[in-house]
Amino acid sequence: MRDELLSPEPTSDEAELEVGEMRAGSGIIGEEGGLRPRHLDDFVGQRELKEHLGIILEAARRREQAVDHLLFAGPPGLGKTTLAGIVAAELQVALHVTSGPALDRAGDLAAILTRLGEGDVLFIDEIHRLSRNVEEVLYPAMEDFQLDIVLGKGPAARSIRLDLPRFTLVGATTRTGLITGPLRDRFGLVARLDYYEADELQSIVSRAAGILGIGIDDGGASEIARRARGTPRIANRLLRRVRDFAEVRGDGEIDEATANEGLAVFGVDDLGLDKVDRAVLSNLCQKFGGGPVGLGTLAISIGEAEETVEDVYEPFLIQQGLLMRTPRGRVATPAAWAHLGMLAPASAPLTADPSRGLFES
Ligand SMILES: Nc1ncnc2c1ncn2[C@@H]1O[C@H](COP(=O)(O)OP(=O)(O)OP(=O)(O)O)[C@@H](O)[C@H]1O
Ligand SMILES: [Mg+2]
Repeated sequence: MRDELLSPEPTSDEAELEVGEMRAGSGIIGEEGGLRPRHLDDFVGQRELKEHLGIILEAARRREQAVDHLLFAGPPGLGKTTLAGIVAAELQVALHVTSGPALDRAGDLAAILTRLGEGDVLFIDEIHRLSRNVEEVLYPAMEDFQLDIVLGKGPAARSIRLDLPRFTLVGATTRTGLITGPLRDRFGLVARLDYYEADELQSIVSRAAGILGIGIDDGGASEIARRARGTPRIANRLLRRVRDFAEVRGDGEIDEATANEGLAVFGVDDLGLDKVDRAVLSNLCQKFGGGPVGLGTLAISIGEAEETVEDVYEPFLIQQGLLMRTPRGRVATPAAWAHLGMLAPASAPLTADPSRGLFES
């Protein structure tokens, strides 16, 4: 079962809130919505991406043109949807939100495209899940701002071409690898979001606490930030849970000690790993001797889909140096064994002993 508290995925409530907020196109609905920065200046971290985006937006503003199509890639909860909202807000244009799986047929996309106004932003979440025939409608729309519609069926069918307003497509994906070449090539900027540094997350936590009216000192914010798995969505969620803890068990104020106790109660470990992260590592070490083991086998052993393990859990474990992807399968690093408080057996593929090669067999 998924641990909703620590999962970087939005819970269904949050997901609805996010879409609702965007559709409303205006202000703030609910807590999660209210925490979303609306302007590029309020967006913390991702320095390089912010710089590039700032230049692109400013240039488009000066030329009074629509911005080039943008693709944001990266693990869940790092701010892709937020950035799409920022692009629309900065340009003061309408934001239309949809997602790859929601666009079943080519007609679904055509209906959305024909409703766009000049310069509007169309945000397609999970764009790697677009079907082929929908993608083919998107190509001429992105490139030439034209829409080919087939009327009728069989020999009587004829096709008409409609001009579309110049719009900006913002795509988001957790998997750049699954985006087809032709689609990828039609974006003017392909940007990758990275996990956030602890100090960046600390400012995100402090900012969110300010908005929610939560009393927290630097020590408390830093403790939550350090254990938020590099992910703003998790940082915000942990902040709310620690606030609950502080209100019920303390005086409502969050300092380092309260944050520590609260996080321990909710089962967040010292590195910020959640239950599933730990299951990945402990299965890898205990059941498969540290690997190498295939993704499919590992995923089945923890009861998650391969895609979820690959997109959601592995990137952070790899970034933390706890897991490696090798041609022969997934391998636990010495740090993983140490984190689990176990001694790597001599047979483990990677041990801390530098005299042994990496993949001796
Ligand atoms: N740079 C940031 N500064 C402040 N808050 C942020 C930042 N990035 C994200 N957040 C917060 O984290 C939450 C999650 O961000 P967002 O929904 O944009 O992530 P996402 O990348 O679209 O995730 P998913 O892949 O699951 O759709 C937002 O509600 C927002 O409050
Ligand atoms: Mg999103």
